Amino acid sequence: MNSAHNVDLTSFNTLALPGKAAAYQKITAAGQLTAPELVGQRRFILGGGSNLVLTGDFAGLVLHMAIPGKRLLKEDAEAFYIEAGAGENWHDFVQWTLQQGWPGLENLSLIPGTVGAAPIQNIGAYGLEVGECFHSLTAWDFEKQAFFPVDRGNCRFGYRDSVFKQEGWHLSGRMAITSVVFRLPKAWIPNLRYADVNQELAAQKIATPTPQDVAKAIIAVRQRKLPNPAIIPNTGSFFHNPVVEAAQAEALAADFPNLPRYAQPDGRVKLAAGWLIEQAGWKGKNLGPVGMYEKQALVLVNRGGATGDDVKRTMAAVQADIRARFGVELSPEPIFL
Ligand code: EPU
Repeated sequence: MNSAHNVDLTSFNTLALPGKAAAYQKITAAGQLTAPELVGQRRFILGGGSNLVLTGDFAGLVLHMAIPGKRLLKEDAEAFYIEAGAGENWHDFVQWTLQQGWPGLENLSLIPGTVGAAPIQNIGAYGLEVGECFHSLTAWDFEKQAFFPVDRGNCRFGYRDSVFKQEGWHLSGRMAITSVVFRLPKAWIPNLRYADVNQELAAQKIATPTPQDVAKAIIAVRQRKLPNPAIIPNTGSFFHNPVVEAAQAEALAADFPNLPRYAQPDGRVKLAAGWLIEQAGWKGKNLGPVGMYEKQALVLVNRGGATGDDVKRTMAAVQADIRARFGVELSPEPIFL
């Protein structure tokens, strides 16, 4: 199905929420975006649907990004430059780079979604954010009717954030990323900043890990804690880890000495939302068909048959509870359509 009307999107979002798109088109080549009929329509650019809360039917056109391709663009003395189409599956792409002997992305193994979506929220896990390995991308601007390049300096990457979110370009359907180039340094050192990954390698008695060893350790840690969306629908972490002023973090730590706290470069402190949610009693708890996962309280799960309204209800209940107990505001990570 490459183009259709009234398309059910349940299987196109990893929370498996119901909703129909008035119109749907699969984009398998960048040139398809230049078609004049795409202008003047309400658009949504869909990747893997793994960071999306579908709140109901969408009256516009869903453009499903499926542009394939991956290749070594160039190399210099310091790095490999790898280009991939926006529609490539992220995890498969990462494993392919490792097989080719171009390490650097292994800590981001098993993250659901597509290559084109990765820079939008600057996906991150286990001590690495994609922005650190990002070189540039190409996108189509529906208003200017032109392809445009974006290099790293213009992406304004932050924690689960980028210019594409900040300026509303993604959610408004103003632009669509068509390909991304990654810069992977030839001098590889394992990124073992994250305690869980270290412990996993130690348990496997691996002292000097290869990139593949690190990837395997990351995959094992993720599989232990995070539900497979194909089996238990979810979008990974549902809330950002909140960043609060140092004084508020200290005051909270006085009441809750075990509260995990991570100092930020700007002097503020990041708190672990999963810890707060667990303390509030939400780990493994459901409100109707939507609950917080029993092995990782930050992951909101659809227990079966949930709608966008059910998700919003559980989200609001968790937020209200965390506000009342800790005076901390939780903001959702996925976007709402
Ligand atoms: N914790 C609890 N109870 C829980 C969950 C966590 O007490 O139910 C505590 C843990 O013991 C730990 C701390 O909270 O002390 C942090 O937990 P964890 O290491 O599992 O990571 P996280 O902060 O919950 C973040 C990212 C994940 C990423 C992991 C590993 C965000 C919103 N989430 O989770 O990213 O995989 O770190 O780097 O930053 C995602 O964004 O979808 C995602 C899965």
